[in-house]
Amino acid sequence: MKVMTIFGTRPEAIKLAPVIAALEATPGVVSRTCVTAQHRGMLDQVLDLNGIKPDHDLDLMRPAQTLDAITAALLTGIGDVLDKDTPDRVIVQGDTATAMIGALAAYYRRLPVSHVEAGLRSGDIYRPWPEEVNRRIVSTIADQHFAPTTTAAEALYRESIDPATVHVTGNTVIDALLATRDRIAAEPAMTKGLDLLFSRFRQRRIILVTTHRRENFAAMTAVAEAISAIAERRDIAVIFPVHPNPNVAGVMERMLKGRDNIAMIPPQDYPHFVALLNACDFVLTDSGGVQEEAPALGKPVLVMRDTTERPEGVEAGTARLIGTDPQRIVAEANALLDDRARYDAMSRAHNPFGDGEASGRIAAIVAGRSPIDSLR
Ligand code: UD1
Ligand code: UDP
Repeated sequence: MKVMTIFGTRPEAIKLAPVIAALEATPGVVSRTCVTAQHRGMLDQVLDLNGIKPDHDLDLMRPAQTLDAITAALLTGIGDVLDKDTPDRVIVQGDTATAMIGALAAYYRRLPVSHVEAGLRSGDIYRPWPEEVNRRIVSTIADQHFAPTTTAAEALYRESIDPATVHVTGNTVIDALLATRDRIAAEPAMTKGLDLLFSRFRQRRIILVTTHRRENFAAMTAVAEAISAIAERRDIAVIFPVHPNPNVAGVMERMLKGRDNIAMIPPQDYPHFVALLNACDFVLTDSGGVQEEAPALGKPVLVMRDTTERPEGVEAGTARLIGTDPQRIVAEANALLDDRARYDAMSRAHNPFGDGEASGRIAAIVAGRSPIDSLR
């Protein structure tokens, strides 16, 4: 069976790298890869780390790309690849434009689709935007739904998806996270350069920040104001790998540059970012993936969103939804910094998103075998 895995952005690459490795190790499966390069530099960081040499690279990223332009380019680009390479099945992950169009292009050719990380729902089509609808579109097309949690599987049952096609596997991000943590422990040189950064901030508590959501662009100035106000405290330092999207990087450069306890750094490769997660006191983010990783490392997460399709972190007590109002962000950060009991309650390690074995289960099911093990 020839299986084509299609992906294009950093989080898809991080979460699919262990699936691709598992497919390559599965007898009877010929694994092919197509990267759309919806992201370029941030995608290449992950490809390099995992030694993935894509069979097809559409090289689509353009600076400040619009949803219309990237979506249109994806459909013709992926369509051509499917026509030339003729896979028996397509795999997509998550909720990006690449995932949605990968599924659609497969559907136009009547190819079956496996969806990794299926069933996450916020219930609000504008938050996250456009990801909530992207993910729902993939669900209407796929015939294999790999739900990370039972909550995600239940959302699919409510939408009348045949339960026989839904498999609770855990999230492959936990596979990636645990494997990377082990690799860093065995090979500390993988996180070269961080010592220097940490030595700048000795004796200070570290807040790790990331932000990039399209629905938060209008609030970027407010988020920057909040970070600036938090950094008035001399007992903390902010480490902020800045997303290269001009809507994010432009505002942050303008508003936060030159502050001695704010380190705005380029997007980090995965081992460096995992090491930062491990070293920080807590995280301020609107990222989906980071909401899944932080609980596994016992790091409190303040989520700069009003709703989340990943409620498990909130239910576990590790994450709090705080929105993007600057006063609220500052108050929540100060509460975590000053109230030890609150901090301790949020910093207990939980792993609601998986056990690190999701990719093997997914590869087995794709190959037509039953998974050796199951979370259910
Ligand atoms: C995309 C996904 C989002 C996902 C995010 C992960 C869609 C609609 N959005 O959002 O779901 O959460 O990726 O990060 O699919 N850029 C670079 N270099 C890179 C990557 C991006 O310069 O390596 C800049 C470019 O100017 C690009 C812009 O960022 O045009 C936006 O990239 P895009 O993929 O459209 O949106 P993201 O906000 O990254
Ligand atoms: N990440 C990374 N380097 C960074 C910031 C994030 O490797 O500088 C990883 C992070 O660990 C997570 C993923 O990128 O696995 C999240 O990507 P992003 O926040 O861009 O997208 P989302 O998860 O919101 O779709």
